[in-house]
Amino acid sequence: CSQPLIDAFQRRISYLRLSVTDRCDLRCTYCMPERMTFLPKKDVLSLEELHRLGLAFIERGINKIRLTGGEPLVRRDVIELVKALGRRLGHGLDELTLTTNGTRLAEFAQPLFEAGVRRVNVSLDTMDGQQFETLSRRDQLGDVLGGITEAKRAGLQVKINTVALKGLNESEIPFLVEWAGTHGHDMTLIEVMPLGEVDGERVDHYLPLPAVRDELSQRFTLTDIADNTGGPARYVRVEETGGRLGFITPLTNNFCATCNRIRVTATGQLYACLGGAEKVDLRAALRSDAPDADLAAALDEAMRIKPERHHFAISEGAAPAQPRHMSVTGG
Ligand code: GTP
Ligand code: 5AD
Ligand code: SF4
Repeated sequence: CSQPLIDAFQRRISYLRLSVTDRCDLRCTYCMPERMTFLPKKDVLSLEELHRLGLAFIERGINKIRLTGGEPLVRRDVIELVKALGRRLGHGLDELTLTTNGTRLAEFAQPLFEAGVRRVNVSLDTMDGQQFETLSRRDQLGDVLGGITEAKRAGLQVKINTVALKGLNESEIPFLVEWAGTHGHDMTLIEVMPLGEVDGERVDHYLPLPAVRDELSQRFTLTDIADNTGGPARYVRVEETGGRLGFITPLTNNFCATCNRIRVTATGQLYACLGGAEKVDLRAALRSDAPDADLAAALDEAMRIKPERHHFAISEGAAPAQPRHMSVTGG
């Protein structure tokens, strides 16, 4: 590549999280309010622009691209972008993947595989229909489970993402761990992060993962393993199922020192950190008279401003760390 992306703390940035839309067909209570305000459609990059951005990042040494949302599969014709980026697999790009809520995965599993995707992360916080409706405010558990089945059938590896929520899915976590393991899925548990306003109070359901791990080790034998998927999870092997279980602990044990990623919103704003306000405007660069030079300069600037770490905290009365919802930057 021309010049690798290295930030001021000598971290090599090789992983791009590219949000293709902030819209979503679910309304998970810890993520967004029921009446969510979405980005104006006119500000959103075209698929062709997202493709050009992807190529510019690959040129600078990004070898893993994860398409995110909102829900990436609600964006019309998103598969065209997947196909276009998929052509770079083996030519600069090592992995092209997606984080999805799974509601439309049944329809998209086969086309995703054909475009070169081999692994998808599916959000699943509960296997109970009633609880699913409480958590996501929609009645679509069946669609998600059908999506996971189809994904497997199409040859995709599925990692399950579960946000651990006190008093909500807390008691179900051991079952979910067992289910994922016996069905051949990696799984990661995630601490809820203070991103954007929601209707309730996140503090009511914040569950620190060290306590969950202790609880799980009463029932399962958990062995630390050094496996790394390039993301922030620290993994254990669940000996009883043979499955891998990851812990994503931005609050109790941040993983910023090994951060290798940046994220771009659907309107082309590059955020240097999930928890920070530092950003550069790639849309302006893309649409300028000298897009190549301006994009290169914008990426250099992003490396200069990437902060050392985030400062998430969840406690009684604490304000959101920053006002942007996860659905804008895709995690
Ligand atoms: P793989 O390791 O490739 O499977 O993916 P991943 O875990 O990086 O991606 P995924 O989209 O499944 O994200 C899982 C959770 O990790 C989400 O809640 C993300 O918001 C969170 N996450 C990913 N990157 C970061 C990060 O840099 N900082 C923080 N605080 N959370 C992150
Ligand atoms: N904190 C933690 N995880 C969140 N997700 C969405 N909002 C939040 C939040 N505020 C999760 C989703 C999905 C992943 C991309 O991020 O459940 O699994
Ligand atoms: Fe949609 Fe994911 Fe947010 Fe749920 S967590 S509302 S599925 S973007």
